[in-house]
Amino acid sequence: MKLISQGNLILKTNLTVNWTMQNPPTSAKAWHSWASFNPNLTGHNESIFFDSATREALDLALSQKLDRFTGWEALGAPERGPLAKAASVFKRGVPFKSCDTESEAVPLSGSYPIEIAPAHIHPVEALKEAFLTKNLFVVIDRNIPEHWNLSPFKADFHLEANEKNKNVDTVEHICKAAKKARSPDHWLIIGGGITADTAAFAANIMKKSFTLVPTTLLAMADACVGGKTGVNAHPFGKNLIGSFAFPEKVLVIPQFLKSLSTRVLRSGGAECLKHAFLAGKPEKAAKIADALKEVNLLSLSEELEFIIELKAKVVAEDPTEKGKRATLNLGHTLAHALEAISHKHNPPDQHIHHGEAVAVGLAFCFLISKKVVPNSVSSMDTMIGCLINSGLMPTKSRLQEHLGLSLDDEQTWPQVSHYLLNDKKKSDHHQDACNWILLEEWGKIFSDKPDGFLVRLPLSKIREVWDQFVREYPL
Ligand SMILES: NC(=O)c1ccc[n+]([C@@H]2O[C@H](COP(=O)([O-])OP(=O)(O)OC[C@H]3O[C@@H](n4cnc5c(N)ncnc54)[C@H](O)[C@@H]3O)[C@@H](O)[C@H]2O)c1
Ligand SMILES: [Zn+2]
Repeated sequence: MKLISQGNLILKTNLTVNWTMQNPPTSAKAWHSWASFNPNLTGHNESIFFDSATREALDLALSQKLDRFTGWEALGAPERGPLAKAASVFKRGVPFKSCDTESEAVPLSGSYPIEIAPAHIHPVEALKEAFLTKNLFVVIDRNIPEHWNLSPFKADFHLEANEKNKNVDTVEHICKAAKKARSPDHWLIIGGGITADTAAFAANIMKKSFTLVPTTLLAMADACVGGKTGVNAHPFGKNLIGSFAFPEKVLVIPQFLKSLSTRVLRSGGAECLKHAFLAGKPEKAAKIADALKEVNLLSLSEELEFIIELKAKVVAEDPTEKGKRATLNLGHTLAHALEAISHKHNPPDQHIHHGEAVAVGLAFCFLISKKVVPNSVSSMDTMIGCLINSGLMPTKSRLQEHLGLSLDDEQTWPQVSHYLLNDKKKSDHHQDACNWILLEEWGKIFSDKPDGFLVRLPLSKIREVWDQFVREYPL
């Protein structure tokens, strides 16, 4: 472990994330012709990234459900500039060609340290050095100054973090504020996953470097590691417009966890437990589960390094999610379906949290493994036990409230299966089956094909597991 001194602060920098990628991040398996793209240029403003023509191209691509492996061919299109911009951010970048030959993908690489401040250090202390940077633009989650007196420091943009605001308009507002502040070269981004995803995307569009300071457990364990940035595209879905952009540094200040509500703290807990399951560490999982149950922040802070390291390792191997990174979606297939149902039936304040949906989704995956993976029962039972102990899974009645549905109702499964089949991470188009990431034991991904991560299962099998899940839902 490397320790570095910042003033009289000792920070751990044992984590360095190396990354390599190519731009664009995917190669085209097919091409979509934009020859007839003729945008309405009334009110068009070239000086902003998301001008009206670029937005029109994005809306068209989203409504036509183009995927990230379909390149955009602009041959013959009268307006190619907006198409090139839209292609560079559609699903974090798709191949683009505007003449007969496709331009070569550009290889990129780099690395960044993840520094973790000691658990007792106040954010003002920990942030001192970051604020010494000259020519700095600071974006902060609006809730942070409400909880923490950061008065020695000044922020340029206060972001109201909610999924509705996580959109291209907010990206434009941030960029406008940065231009007004004379476009500083380096951005400091302080906040949860929403602030990080939105502001880092804005920084990338403006070609600025940035430091991330995550302030929620989810942002520390997940959102700030791995270079995915981006915003939602209502009504099409979450995180559909963005880019891969890597920070110069991530600075984790565990004290920020103190001001989180228990529900928001626990929202990040499911990803932490998921990391322990994937790493095959039962004793770590038990410690994290206890810390979450008891809201023991000191104990959780002690585990942060382990928790962050697993994601850092996986994304270093597969930065642009061509293979192994997909294993981090463990538990997310059902989770996305539950979130979609909750969003359909309830107003935002009653939505299920992502972490709650992931906790339920993980338990569901383990139940599938018990049914389809030989000799997996005892490992799966200990992992399910861990999830139950952690207090992350909502009670059955709370889950039903979040979903706006009764689990025992006959009409519930058709809705669940509808969303399972629509999950954007499914990679086949057969309507009677969907793909799952399953474990066969602690730390071991199950696959029925060599080098594969996904197991395709018929919906009838999933239905059987669902019925058992509903009967046995633990609380
Ligand atoms: N980029 C990635 O790889 C990645 C990975 C996972 C999740 N995400 C994204 O992260 C987002 C969720 O992030 P989140 O759970 O951090 O939510 P969030 O950013 O909305 O924060 C949750 C709430 O906590 C408040 N808050 C933040 N820090 C606080 C603190 N220290 N004290 C008190 N309140 C605080 C926020 O203002 C907000 O109201 C989602 O949009 C998701 O898509 C991204
Ligand atoms: Zn997640």
